[in-house]
This record gives sequence, structure tokens and C-alpha cells, in this order.
Amino acid sequence: MHVVIAGGHGKIALRLARLLAAQDVRVTGLIRNPDHAEDVRRAGARPQVCDLERVSVEEVAAHLEGADAAVFAAGAGPGSGAARKDTVDRAASVLLADAAERTGVRRFLQISAMGADRLPRPGSDEVWAAYITAKGRAEADLRARDLDWLILRPGRLTDAPGTGLVTLAEPEVGRAEVTRDDVAAVLAALLHAPAVRRRTLELVNGTTPIEEAVAALAA
Ligand SMILES: NC(=O)c1ccc[n+]([C@@H]2O[C@H](COP(=O)([O-])OP(=O)(O)OC[C@H]3O[C@@H](n4cnc5c(N)ncnc54)[C@H](OP(=O)(O)O)[C@@H]3O)[C@@H](O)[C@H]2O)c1
Repeated sequence: MHVVIAGGHGKIALRLARLLAAQDVRVTGLIRNPDHAEDVRRAGARPQVCDLERVSVEEVAAHLEGADAAVFAAGAGPGSGAARKDTVDRAASVLLADAAERTGVRRFLQISAMGADRLPRPGSDEVWAAYITAKGRAEADLRARDLDWLILRPGRLTDAPGTGLVTLAEPEVGRAEVTRDDVAAVLAALLHAPAVRRRTLELVNGTTPIEEAVAALAA
């Protein structure tokens, strides 16, 4: 299996790369900063410099050629303004999905966020509103495509060690935390569960072992 991770130097992306590389899955990490290449290599993935706010769909497609799955793990991140929520959290996902369609990479996992299906409350912080709007628009774009897409909405992310125990279900599971380790482990399990597709799933830490939670969805 060959998996291409967009935003390959992200905290979840690096964890996912390590898990997949340990399973002998070939992983390519698309990064925008060449200084991040060594970290990506150390995680067991092949870094490719590909700034998703600057490249053409043809360039992204060249990286996806022959891959089995694409994972959108990029995000403008904390500290970025409203404009980059649109250019990364929405537009870069749309670009990756365009490239996936062109190259026939049907499997597409998108990391979204809880609340992406709701309009921001009037008076909410401008950057938060731009973020959640961008996530919602990226989700809507993906749902309209003829791809084996899967949208994963984690709760509030933490860097605590993974527990292996989750609640993974269709909305709404209720807001709670989830470790990035567990998000990566769920993504890895979902990549091996092609029957789980064209669904929107929410994820928080819970009481069900990850393999069991994914198997239940695939059944
Ligand atoms: N924080 C939360 O509680 C929370 C909750 C739910 C969902 N999420 C979402 O979960 C996702 C992953 O989270 P995370 O913690 O792993 O994020 P992260 O560590 O911030 O990783 C995001 C990655 O995207 C990359 N990126 C940004 N712009 C790019 C571009 N133009 N081209 C290519 N890569 C680009 C960043 O690279 P640079 O280092 O070069 O900027 C970074 O490596 C994000 O989409 C986030 O919005 C977060």
C-alpha cells in the first residue's frame, strides 16, 4: 500500500507515518518547508516538498500517481489568520481531492473538526468562524465527489500518550478530548478498512479498543 499524507510534518501526520511505516506501508509526506524533510524521513516516510497553497493540481497529481490512498492532515494551525483557514483548511483539501480524482486515487481520508456542519454562532471569534467554515466547506466538497471518502472529526487534540480506547461513531458523539496518538491509530486502522467509506465519523477517547471500533463500522 502507498499512502500520501498532505501536511506530512503535522503532529498527527508524523504519528500516522510512523505507524504505517512499521506495517511496511509506503508513505509519502507532502510538506511545504524543506527543513521538515529530515523529520518526515525519520518517521519512515518519503518527504516531498509541495506547498498546497502554491502548487497546481497537476503537481499534486504527480505525487499521487500510483498511490492507494490520500490523507488530508494539513491545517493552517494556531496563530494563522482567517485567510489561511480558507487557503489551507478548505482550498488545500479541495486541491488534494481534485488531484485524487485525476489520478484515480479513490480512497481519501480527511481530518476535519467537530462542529464543521454548523454555522459559527453570531459573535464568535473571526478566526474560529473562518476555521470552522473552511472545515465545513471542505467536508461538503468531499461529500459531493465520486471518491471513497471518509471524514474524521476528532475532538480537542492532546499530546498525551495514546490509550487505544475510543468512541468512534457518526455525529454526534459529544465534545471531549482525543490524543493525537489515537487519531493516528484510528486513521491507520481505517486505511485498512476500505468498507468504511462515504461516512462522517466523530472521534474522542472512550472505552472501545480501536480495532473493535473500526471493525464494528465495517460490519
Ligand atoms: N487542535 C485541535 O484541537 C483540533 C481538533 C480537531 C481537528 N483539528 C485538525 O486536525 C488537523 C491536524 O492536526 P495536527 O495537530 O496534526 O496539525 P498540525 O501539527 O498543525 O499540522 C498541520 C500541518 O499542515 C501543514 N501545512 C500548513 N500549510 C500547508 C501547505 N500550504 N502545504 C502543505 N502543508 C501545509 C503544516 O506545515 P507547517 O509546519 O509548514 O505549517 C503542518 O505540518 C488540522 O487540520 C486541525 O485543524 C484540530
